[in-house]
Amino acid sequence: MSAHPNFPNLHVLDHPLIQHKLSKMRSRETTTIKFRLLLKEIALLMGYEITRNLPMTTERVETPLTTMDAPVIDGRKLAVVSILRAGLGMADGLLELVPAARVGHVGLYRDHDTKQPVEYLVKLPSAEGRLFVLVDPMLATGNSAVHAVDVLNRHGVPDENIRFMALVAAPEGVAQFNKSHPNVPVYVASLDEKLDENAYIVPGLGDAGDRIFGTK
Ligand code: URA
Repeated sequence: MSAHPNFPNLHVLDHPLIQHKLSKMRSRETTTIKFRLLLKEIALLMGYEITRNLPMTTERVETPLTTMDAPVIDGRKLAVVSILRAGLGMADGLLELVPAARVGHVGLYRDHDTKQPVEYLVKLPSAEGRLFVLVDPMLATGNSAVHAVDVLNRHGVPDENIRFMALVAAPEGVAQFNKSHPNVPVYVASLDEKLDENAYIVPGLGDAGDRIFGTK
């Protein structure tokens, strides 16, 4: 994992397993069930990288042979927050890795006239000392991602306690996100080429929500 030269807070997770699974997801031939499974598997693998820097402490443990100060995660609680609806598909993988995490939801839709995100649901665990991982597979224009971080800020979560995790990003979305929240690290499996005129990521994988839930 390395920071991107053009976007200092972007981390592209180029692990071979992640890249292989993402390539399978991109194919239009991939079925809903397979797509959902691959997304969950990638989210779990990405979660492993994202949690790499969690602070550690030690705990006294008695093994069958002796007593030792064994390394454990330093009491920092985790929250996984999905941006609805496609974020749900990624949250599943993270929750498999950290089953004790609290779960939040931010529901946004795009207003036809203003093209801006509008909240229809916000349900979040308490901010207190928690690290929030915000998930949405597609970082396209960046508008929803920025808005969701604004929602967390309003709820009392500072940027320092937030990580954003997406599957695929467009440069336009990363730039927009960086402008508003330069201190929130963004983790993706791929930085794709561009957005098309309908704000779809190219080459991308299509509409992530429709592919996860089998809708049209
Ligand atoms: N949302 C999607 O689901 N796909 C895109 O390509 C862009 C936004």
